[in-house]
Amino acid sequence: MAVLTIVEDERALAHEGAERFTAIVREAVRGRGRAIVSLTGGSTPRKMYEALARDAAQVPWQDVHLFWGDERAVPPDHKDSNYGMARDALIAHVPIPGEHVHRMRGELPADEAAGRYEEELTGTFDLMLLGLGEDAHIASIFPGSAVLEERTRRTAAPWAAHLNAYRITLTPPALLDARRILMLVSGQKKADAVKAAIEAPLDPRQWPAQLLREAGDRVEWLMDRAAAQALSSPRA
Ligand code: 6PG
Repeated sequence: MAVLTIVEDERALAHEGAERFTAIVREAVRGRGRAIVSLTGGSTPRKMYEALARDAAQVPWQDVHLFWGDERAVPPDHKDSNYGMARDALIAHVPIPGEHVHRMRGELPADEAAGRYEEELTGTFDLMLLGLGEDAHIASIFPGSAVLEERTRRTAAPWAAHLNAYRITLTPPALLDARRILMLVSGQKKADAVKAAIEAPLDPRQWPAQLLREAGDRVEWLMDRAAAQALSSPRA
């Protein structure tokens, strides 16, 4: 059963998220000498990344490897780049070795970028950070996507017709191959998707975030009150 943690608002979410990130990374470095982390894109994590940057000394960045759960098919300096957002909010401000930053090459043809990333992945993640779309998508695994059926490859380059764009994304086998999965969710707009992901009858084709049920208590839903408001039995 996933852990549900509900905090007051966006600011508390960023603070709690940074605390969780720091604790999980430290534990991994203590136990395995390094931490392999997958970052999420979208707008929700920015404040958390900025909080980590402000308190950089708390994290052993020289032992951290950063990957991404998904990327838009754009160059790294494009306004929509998930890598670009994380670079500006976090990476540019912390002492992480350049070769430890494993970005998806959104500037390349999507299937080529996915193929290259498949080679670069290094096994089990210590921390998988994910956001949630209003349609309950995670990474770039959208409702009805063929990526939902993927059982062997760890990356894919789906065409997102509703966005009229390709995406590069980790697949379910890769997303679930993580010791800890932290869902970061904020705002009233996500309330229905949160309820569907956690409480609705199982149908991941309709609600991709339900895939996370397979990971049981390795998953923590860290969300603010607005995002949790539709849950039938609010906790905490
Ligand atoms: C992306 C993301 C995606 C994101 C959700 C939530 O590239 O868009 O990785 O899965 O997490 O769409 O996005 P917001 O945080 O902007 O609401």
